[in-house]
Amino acid sequence: MKHWMKSTLLCMALASLAPSVMAQQQKETFDIGDKTFVLNGKPMVIKAAEIHYTRIPAEYWEHRIQMCKALGMNTICIYAFWNIHEQEPGKFDFKGQNDIAQFCKLAQKHGMYIMLRPGPYVCSEWEMGGLPWWLLKKKDIEVRTNDPYFVERTRLFMNEIGKELAPLQITKGGNIIMVQVENEYGAYATDKEYIANIRDIVRNAGFNDVPLFQCDWSSTFQRNGLDDLLWTINFGTGANIEQQFKSLQEARPNTPLMCSEFWSGWFDHWGRKHETRDAGVMVSGLKDMLDRNISFSLYMTHGGTTFGHWGGANSPRYSAMCSSYDYDAPINEAGQTTPKYFKVRELLGGYLDEGQQLADIPAQIPVITIPTFEVTEIAPLFENLPKAHQSETIKPMEDFNQGWGSILYSTTLPNVQEGTTLIINEVHDWAQVFVNGKLLGRLDRRREENTVKLPALPQGAKLDILVEAMGRVNFDRAIHDRKGITESVKLASETTTTDLKNWQVYSFPVNYEFVKDKKFRKGKKIDGPAYYKTTFNVDKPGYVFLDMESWGKGMVWVNGKSIGRFWEIGPQQTLFMPGCWLKKGKNEIIVLDLKGPEQATIAGLDQPILDQLRQEAPLTNRKDGETLQLSGEQPVYTGSFAAGNGWQEVRFDQPIPARYFCLEALNAQDGKDRAAMAELYLLDEQGKPLSRQNWKISYANSEETYGGNFTADKVFDLQESTYWQTGGKEKYPHQIVVDTNADTKISGFRYLPRAEAGAPGMIKDFRIFVKSAPFQY
Ligand code: GLA
Ligand code: CA
Repeated sequence: MKHWMKSTLLCMALASLAPSVMAQQQKETFDIGDKTFVLNGKPMVIKAAEIHYTRIPAEYWEHRIQMCKALGMNTICIYAFWNIHEQEPGKFDFKGQNDIAQFCKLAQKHGMYIMLRPGPYVCSEWEMGGLPWWLLKKKDIEVRTNDPYFVERTRLFMNEIGKELAPLQITKGGNIIMVQVENEYGAYATDKEYIANIRDIVRNAGFNDVPLFQCDWSSTFQRNGLDDLLWTINFGTGANIEQQFKSLQEARPNTPLMCSEFWSGWFDHWGRKHETRDAGVMVSGLKDMLDRNISFSLYMTHGGTTFGHWGGANSPRYSAMCSSYDYDAPINEAGQTTPKYFKVRELLGGYLDEGQQLADIPAQIPVITIPTFEVTEIAPLFENLPKAHQSETIKPMEDFNQGWGSILYSTTLPNVQEGTTLIINEVHDWAQVFVNGKLLGRLDRRREENTVKLPALPQGAKLDILVEAMGRVNFDRAIHDRKGITESVKLASETTTTDLKNWQVYSFPVNYEFVKDKKFRKGKKIDGPAYYKTTFNVDKPGYVFLDMESWGKGMVWVNGKSIGRFWEIGPQQTLFMPGCWLKKGKNEIIVLDLKGPEQATIAGLDQPILDQLRQEAPLTNRKDGETLQLSGEQPVYTGSFAAGNGWQEVRFDQPIPARYFCLEALNAQDGKDRAAMAELYLLDEQGKPLSRQNWKISYANSEETYGGNFTADKVFDLQESTYWQTGGKEKYPHQIVVDTNADTKISGFRYLPRAEAGAPGMIKDFRIFVKSAPFQY
């Protein structure tokens, strides 16, 4: 390159950088001071917007950063997602959509600092909480522990992140001001040695110039808090802020306070009510913090989309996440302003940093519509089988080196007598059972379904079990979530049980290269699994919402990019299609529908449909006609909870043998009709919390599932901000019955009311019943 050309390019590059970047490149300092953060020697309140580079097309990163800036924020908070960067062991990808350093630089261009949260675990409703699936190929792996293999792989990944991002620390002329160690580890385990290991791995990766921090809940931060790390607290809209920081302030009177995740909304699960949080309540929480100089990160400020197969799931009671990660955030899924946005902007406008001006809101990206088109080509899945693996026994997907997608297990049945049941352990996550090509049943892990009744069959019938993997669990121990069929397939008659063997196993991964390569032909839709393909026309690209309402269950690829999953049950019925991935003229779309559509048509809408549950009522925990019978039962304890937030513990006189636990709430602190409960633990003989891994709700007399998502299993979902709440019309008493699935002794319990000050539903008087045998209904 000629010298003059080089310098012109350099001038152009410099001209495009805002003055603040020049300042930042002069190298700045960021420290933890006395009750405050300190930027270049001056007190700083961090006003961070959490957005995820993985959930925004790279083409729009800058737009979204500018949207956050115009909201009045001064920082962007991000996770690094290990499993998107290292999809195969040792093959790292930091290019294009995965160019996390470029994302940070764009933030710097707009004068925004970065809080980096590189995991290794990130939760985030992301497949396996950001951990790569291939870790599960090691049979006995224990992720998020000192398991040597896990620690070693973490170190290798963190070193790569260090190569990308350590040079961008603020002290080196970049904009990274803080780096997080692990993520809410207190909600997972108590193991300071492990956290110390991760801290050292993060430091050794090069992050030794800026403060390192831990984020946890107010109830768990001390479990793993290391002396040399900053501690921050996570909580959501509506939380009692005073209460949330109380124990932190007691433990560390001089620490700067930060809510490292202030939840603006919440995420959606398939088959459950769409979540929203009130804008006014959210803004008043932010104001409360700003008035006390408390730093915050607004999780999410823009949720975006969990494209492709990257959504996670919760468990127990397996429940996969929707593709939309709109989160009811101030910036909606499509990157547009919302009423919440303007409320936050107005607030933050009153709390600007010295010399900061409220930036203009960047131009909104145009929206388009697409007239209904028909999908005309079809490639039935059973006519497009890839090469089979042979396997004597049933094995999960990971054992066939498959990470995501669907997997088909086929075998030949012996002579089957009337009354025989097929038992599949375990279905991860949604299976269809075919005999001689005919669909016999569908099994849904969310409902813990695992049996299909077989008709009488002569020897030699063909059994096909097609299992679709939904997201890997991203929270708690169940993150060791292998896919396909994890244990066994058995035939059970009254007298015998036999293991089925000699399987042909077919993998259907989700990468476009695999998907596009099917034998498509012109044809009508079928009832059964098939790939569909067509092209549609776009005059002028813009973003649009693809309406999948008439389709069953599966995934969509447009111009080679997987834009997400659909499922007729909702609540999400449309898929966000970024305009930057469309082109003028012809665009290709491929749909995998595992069930089959009612109509093979699609339209592009200018509004999303995120709140339409169909086909089934939300899952609740009271069967039709059931009413709990307590008249013959003796309570083992009668008492009253204190008013107010925070954990309360109740101990019985002596441990009592129990499998079933019933709490009957007799009235509320506010004298009204509702009951609510955020979390419940049962205590063993030593007074330690029992594992809740195998818990089920046997019964809840009432659950609010239309006004919001408040089912009874929320009392053991480990999230302190979610809760069981009874419906508006039902009156006290209210009962919840837990089946612990274990025969143990219970010496008491811990109860957490809702986190909001003075919120409805706080229980006052109650009775406790425990039994080894089920209750009567
Ligand atoms: C926790 C996690 C986040 C996310 C939120 C819920 O705070 O740290 O990654 O999962 O819960 O959205
Ligand atoms: Ca909860």
